[in-house]
Amino acid sequence: MNILIYDTQEQVNKVGATILANIVLAKPNAILGLATGGTPVGIYKELVAKNEQGLLSFSEVRTYNLDEYVGIDGEHDQSYRYFMNENLFNHIDINKANTHVPNGKVADAEAECVRYDAEIEAAGQLDIQLLGLGHNGHIGFNEPDDSQVPGTHVVELAQETRQANARFFANIDEVPTHAITMGVGTILKAKKILLVVKGEDKADIVKQALQGPITTQCPASLLQLHPNLIVLLDKAAGSKLS
Ligand code: GLP
Repeated sequence: MNILIYDTQEQVNKVGATILANIVLAKPNAILGLATGGTPVGIYKELVAKNEQGLLSFSEVRTYNLDEYVGIDGEHDQSYRYFMNENLFNHIDINKANTHVPNGKVADAEAECVRYDAEIEAAGQLDIQLLGLGHNGHIGFNEPDDSQVPGTHVVELAQETRQANARFFANIDEVPTHAITMGVGTILKAKKILLVVKGEDKADIVKQALQGPITTQCPASLLQLHPNLIVLLDKAAGSKLS
């Protein structure tokens, strides 16, 4: 595990974007596993800037997102498809047909999970998976539990996750109760993992995830098993690490 700690979130964004950009520069048709949430927004801005400046092209890149809410479609402004379009895809030279987010508005969400896994499998190994971290240690929408499902699956969201994400909705009742998420096994299959965490409010869970026991009750702790994990933190998020 390689832990990088920077003074400011701006530095974290720049370094995160550079890590992703270097993968695309080395392999123009790279497969990127992408994430939503507040954490990667600054990284995506940096990538957009590099693309606008002609330093980086996404024309051959393929992307797979971690997760999506069940019950809302890609046009919904709180869907993760909408988020990705708004924060990244609409502003870079990527072919939208090469961008993949699970479809949360299907009649059969279980079948969508099987389809999504098969698609990732057929595409080949993800060159990198970008991850944020939930306050309870979730990655994607893999919530703390007695066990973890390896592949893409439907999850019931923890109340604290719905509460945390209610800030983006009119009220908590509008936050979907279920989501489709890549499983921890899908995530661990990526060649490289980039976990990005910012803010003092995540310092305890960062410590638990990186220096605590490996347990399904803290899904991010399973990342300790990955041979090529980069953790990118701001000073506040890394403040409790020994
Ligand atoms: C959401 C997403 C995760 C994300 C996490 C943290 O629930 N499903 O992929 O990492 O919350 O979000 P944030 O970066 O906004 O703190």
